[in-house]
Amino acid sequence: MYWLFWILAGWLAARPGDGPQDDPRGLKDYFQDYFLIGASIAPFETEGPVADLILHEFNTITAENAMKFGPIHPEENRFKWQGADRIAAFARLNNLKLRGHTLCWHNQTPSWLFINDEGRSVNKEVLLSRLKHHITEVVHRYQNEVYAWDVVNEAISDNPDEYLRITPWLTVCGEEYLAKAFQYAHEADPEALLFYNDYNTWHPEKRVKIIRMIRSLQAQGIPIDGIGIQGHWSIYGPDEAQLETAISEYEALGLLIHITELDVSVYPPESKRRDKLPDEPDAFTAQKQKMQQEQYDRIFRVLARHRNSIQSVTFWNVSDQRTWLDHFPVRGRKNYPLLFDTSLRRKPVYTKIIAGLIQEN
Ligand code: GLA
Repeated sequence: MYWLFWILAGWLAARPGDGPQDDPRGLKDYFQDYFLIGASIAPFETEGPVADLILHEFNTITAENAMKFGPIHPEENRFKWQGADRIAAFARLNNLKLRGHTLCWHNQTPSWLFINDEGRSVNKEVLLSRLKHHITEVVHRYQNEVYAWDVVNEAISDNPDEYLRITPWLTVCGEEYLAKAFQYAHEADPEALLFYNDYNTWHPEKRVKIIRMIRSLQAQGIPIDGIGIQGHWSIYGPDEAQLETAISEYEALGLLIHITELDVSVYPPESKRRDKLPDEPDAFTAQKQKMQQEQYDRIFRVLARHRNSIQSVTFWNVSDQRTWLDHFPVRGRKNYPLLFDTSLRRKPVYTKIIAGLIQEN
C-alpha cells in the first residue's frame, strides 16, 4: 500500500494545471531528462502573451519563416535581417537554444535566385556561388546564437519513381548541391550541428531514399550531424510501429535526431490545396480530441524511448491560436494541432502527455 501512496502523491504533485499561472513547471521542466522542447515562432511573438507562454514552457525556438532564403535574402545584394535578429535576440536574452531553419530549400526562395539578368536560368557555377554567399552570410551572422542548422530541407522526392526531388537546385547543379550546402555551412561555422530535414520520414519508401542520400554524404566525408524529422503528423497516423522503425533506422546511421516540426493535425493527411466543402465539418469534436490525445501519447512514448539519440523536440507553432495548418491545405478550415488552445491554455492532451511520462518512469 505504501508504494501506492507514493505513486499517487507523485502523480498529483506532477499534475500540470491549466496554464502557467497554476504550474511553476513547463514542458521544458517535465522533459528535462529527455530532450530540449520548443516551438517555431514569428518575430512578433517575442513580445506579449505568446512570449510569456514560450518562456514558461519551452527552452528552444526556431524561426518559423524569418531565416528562410526568401524572407532573409530578398535581393541578391540585400539581406533583410530584422525579423531573424529579433528572434535571435529573444533567444540570447532568455537563454533559449536556437535552431536555424533553413539554408537550402526549393520553397520560399526569392525570385532572383535561379535566374540571370536576362531572365534565363543561371549555370551551376553561379548558383553554387550564390548558395555559398548566402550560407556564409547567414551562418556568420547568427554564429553565436544558432547551434544547429537545417542545412538542406526536403530534397527527397515523394514520387516512388524518383530519388531526389526535381528542383532548380537539382536541375542546375545535379546531386552535388547537397554536399556543397553542408560544406559551405561547415566552413562558415565549424561548431554548428548540421541537419538534413524532411517530412514523411517514416514512409518506408521515402525512408530508404533518405538513408541512401545520408549514407552517400557520409561516404564522401561530408559533415552531417543529424536528421531533422519534421513530424507533421495526424490523428490518423503514423502508428507506433512505423515511428519506432523509422527512428531506429535513422539512429543506426549514427546521427543525432531532432524532431523539428511537430504537430498532429485533426484531419486525414492531404497535400493538394483546395477549398473547404460547404458541409465539411471542422469542429474539434470530443472524438477528435480523444484521438489526438492518443496519438500524442503514442508519439511521446516512442520519443521518450529514444531519448539517447533525440536531442530536441520542436513544435511547429506555439498554440492553436495560430498554426500554419489553419487554411492549409484546405482554405477556410481551422485546425487544432498543438498542445495549447486558441486562448493559449493547456489542452487536456498536455496533461495526458505528462501523465504518460510519469508512468514510464
Ligand atoms: C515545411 C518547412 C517549414 C514550414 C512548413 C509549413 O515543413 O520545413 O519551414 O514551411 O513546411 O509551415
